[in-house]
Amino acid sequence: NIMKELSGLEVYEQKLKTKFNLRKVIVVPGNSDIDLGVKQELGKACVHFLKRIIKDNMIISVTGGSTMSAIADEMIPMENKDCLFVPSRGGLGEQVENQANTICVEMARKAKGNYRLLYVPDPISESSYRSIIKEPVVKEVTEYIQNADIVIHGIGEAMTMAERRKMSKNQLDQIKKSNGVGEAFGYYFDKSGQIVHKVRTVGLQLEDLESIAHVITVAGGASKADAIESYFKLGKSNVLITDEAAAIKLVKG
Ligand code: BG6
Repeated sequence: NIMKELSGLEVYEQKLKTKFNLRKVIVVPGNSDIDLGVKQELGKACVHFLKRIIKDNMIISVTGGSTMSAIADEMIPMENKDCLFVPSRGGLGEQVENQANTICVEMARKAKGNYRLLYVPDPISESSYRSIIKEPVVKEVTEYIQNADIVIHGIGEAMTMAERRKMSKNQLDQIKKSNGVGEAFGYYFDKSGQIVHKVRTVGLQLEDLESIAHVITVAGGASKADAIESYFKLGKSNVLITDEAAAIKLVKG
């Protein structure tokens, strides 16, 4: 009975909204850990939500990852004038198809918007970082990122992300030892929401989120429940788009 199922998801939406003190929660059916189609549904839900809030001249900043890539797949023309898509941060050691720059271009094209990209190596040394942020082109894009109206981002499990980014054994051990469970924007969090590690890269910093009107978190799969929970301890997002499997675990936990 579809009606019954729908109302079941709405119950989760309501519970998560209260739990994390959010403006909006959308829960799609299924578990994206085992069904790739569910990731596409997260993508669709995000695009529809974006369509409702986007206005002319807005800046939309996006991160990388396979969930974000599914959003790019589902992107539709936005018909808003002069919207600008930018990556949230410099390269975070992802494969090209999962990189924020790649996703940013695809989203902008499909949404009929503009884009600016950020080419910064990762990891980056302290001294290169200091000089690269002074480059006019990097500075310009960084300013767009800080003035974004909308941020759309993914969340990952800490160890999955650390391994995917090919971190050194030392760093992996350190994140494990400090009980890192979640990752977003290159920040690693433990269960209580404490930052246990941070990747040095150019672009959006966690504190920038406070002044951004719409922060949309898109993450699903039962395996990400702890990661989602750890991220929301900091409460820097307004909207969560997730799936049923993650929602069930989050509500129980
Ligand atoms: C990365 C983002 O590219 O994608 C991360 O920079 C995020 O912050 C991750 O945790 C999520 O990846 P996926 O593939 O699980 O959507």
